[in-house]
Amino acid sequence: MPGREVGLLVLQTAPRWGVERTGAAVALVSLQGVGKTFSGRTGAWEAVRDFSLDLAEGEFFCLLGTSGCGKTTVLNMVAGFEAPTAGSILLDGAPVEGPGADRGVVFQGHDSLYDWLTALDNIGFGLRLRGMGRAERRDKAEHFLRMVGLNGQGAKHPSELSGGMKQRIQIARALANDPRMLLMDEPFGALDAMTRAVLQGELSRIWAETKKTVLFITHDIEEACALATRIGVMRRGPGGTLKAIVPVDLPFPRERTSDAFMRVFRDVHGLIHDEIHGAH
Ligand SMILES: Nc1ncnc2c1ncn2[C@@H]1O[C@H](COP(=O)(O)OP(=O)(O)OP(=O)(O)O)[C@@H](O)[C@H]1O
Ligand SMILES: [Mg+2]
Repeated sequence: MPGREVGLLVLQTAPRWGVERTGAAVALVSLQGVGKTFSGRTGAWEAVRDFSLDLAEGEFFCLLGTSGCGKTTVLNMVAGFEAPTAGSILLDGAPVEGPGADRGVVFQGHDSLYDWLTALDNIGFGLRLRGMGRAERRDKAEHFLRMVGLNGQGAKHPSELSGGMKQRIQIARALANDPRMLLMDEPFGALDAMTRAVLQGELSRIWAETKKTVLFITHDIEEACALATRIGVMRRGPGGTLKAIVPVDLPFPRERTSDAFMRVFRDVHGLIHDEIHGAH
């Protein structure tokens, strides 16, 4: 593997093209030398440069980095909302050419819920588009409503739900389409600390239950340490890229005050601290 192992850390010293394949199995998602340069009225801006990463089926990968380093840009390219300007992104070996039902996206804000639909109908929206009948749709939506802990709240409209409840509905809606993976861009960023901790616990349980592959973006180190099987730390832009990958080999549910958790936190904190304070 190109990269240098330093204790728990694997420092990125070379492009990771085609690495991290287990046996003959191809990664679920493979980003190979991906770059993104935006051209706008103020000229060109290289947001992401030479970003290479393989995500294995079933893993929970947290992408962590300072504001503006390119996290959302990477997620948008995997989601198919933006096309890379360099390199390629493969999903199950085929190039990503646009959004698809195989990738469920959960956004930070909750404005992506449809105000005029009930919580249950929001969850079943994608199923309706796919032509599923009313009764089956309702059963499925109820199932995912229960999974996110909102049993009995399905008749409420988004304006009658708290921020945390809306994020739960977004997660249920994404899961209802049975995607191969979940793409989550700071989904709990706007929530208070207590609600956030509760939802992190819920998401961890749901991930273990559904075995979905998750790409989760955050700038909260503790959140990443609580959720991830691996944490990718990004170097700040311009030309944001992957700086290091920290494997988090701790059992779930995670004990946040344990020495082992603190050790991972300190490693990741050190990597991020260098980004904020300029040491590369
Ligand atoms: N559509 C766009 N046009 C021009 N520049 C863009 C566009 N989208 C993002 N950028 C620039 O690319 C860089 C990376 O942005 P991005 O949103 O990916 O950062 P981020 O890591 O998600 O930050 P945050 O943590 O604040 O959400 C920023 O400098 C941003 O200004
Ligand atoms: Mg962002």
